[in-house]
Amino acid sequence: MQRVESVKALRAQVKAWRQQGETIAFVPTMGNLHAGHLSLVAKARELADKVIVSIFVNPLQFDDKSDLSAYPRTLDADIEQLTSVVCDLVFTPTVEVMYPQGMDSHTKVVVPDMDDKLCGQNRPGHFDGVATVVSKLFNMVQADVAVFGDKDFQQLLLIKKLALDLNLAVEVIGGPTFREPNGLAMSSRNQYLTTEQFAQAASLYQVLSAVKAQLEQANTNYHQLESEAVSQLTEAGFVVDYVEIRRAQDLEIATKADHNLRILAAAQLGKARLIDNIACNLA
Ligand code: PAF
Repeated sequence: MQRVESVKALRAQVKAWRQQGETIAFVPTMGNLHAGHLSLVAKARELADKVIVSIFVNPLQFDDKSDLSAYPRTLDADIEQLTSVVCDLVFTPTVEVMYPQGMDSHTKVVVPDMDDKLCGQNRPGHFDGVATVVSKLFNMVQADVAVFGDKDFQQLLLIKKLALDLNLAVEVIGGPTFREPNGLAMSSRNQYLTTEQFAQAASLYQVLSAVKAQLEQANTNYHQLESEAVSQLTEAGFVVDYVEIRRAQDLEIATKADHNLRILAAAQLGKARLIDNIACNLA
């Protein structure tokens, strides 16, 4: 596996692969890799001849600067893990490489209707930061396909919309959420949890699964199901941001006529802001 830090070296390798007729799959990450990330790399491997992973903690998407400085950076261990799966190139740019002109007056990519709801509501500028860095990475890597986790479902839909709206020649694909044995979705932020909180955190998936079970039993009182879920999570020790039953295709408020639903939640437990979501197809 090659490690590349400059855009010039990345483009040279991509060009050489293209000249040999190779296809390219891309997995953007912020590092601190876990089994969920590695599964996305394995999926990427199935989809193209060459796999590129990027590791870059993007300051532009952090609305809270202390969250940015605390974000776990484990580059050596990440590179070690990537050598255990088949990854051809890891791109590890610095902030100066990604933003040589600085970030203050940098061009921003905004994805309307997707950036201001759910996680966008309490994290101003977060999704603009994600859309901007992903657009830059897409332009640098020029992949045929890019794989993102279903765990960040709003982010996945936002990037799909970005690629569609801007006619980007990259197919954006989701990969399934990986879970701990207690059901907690794998996340780099789980390491902020104490042992006790890690056990408590299992409630998030349990509560979402209970909402799904109610929907499957034809309970269509979405508002009541959401409020009950918020109460259960609050009782379990979470400070809840939202629990919402939404239309899966665009995350708009679900009506009784919608059958393809997504149940999404975000909640703080100790120092960790946890998000999770599950699909619920009633058709
Ligand atoms: O999901 C992430 O790790 C990040 O938001 C991404 C897509 C790599 C952009 O920085």
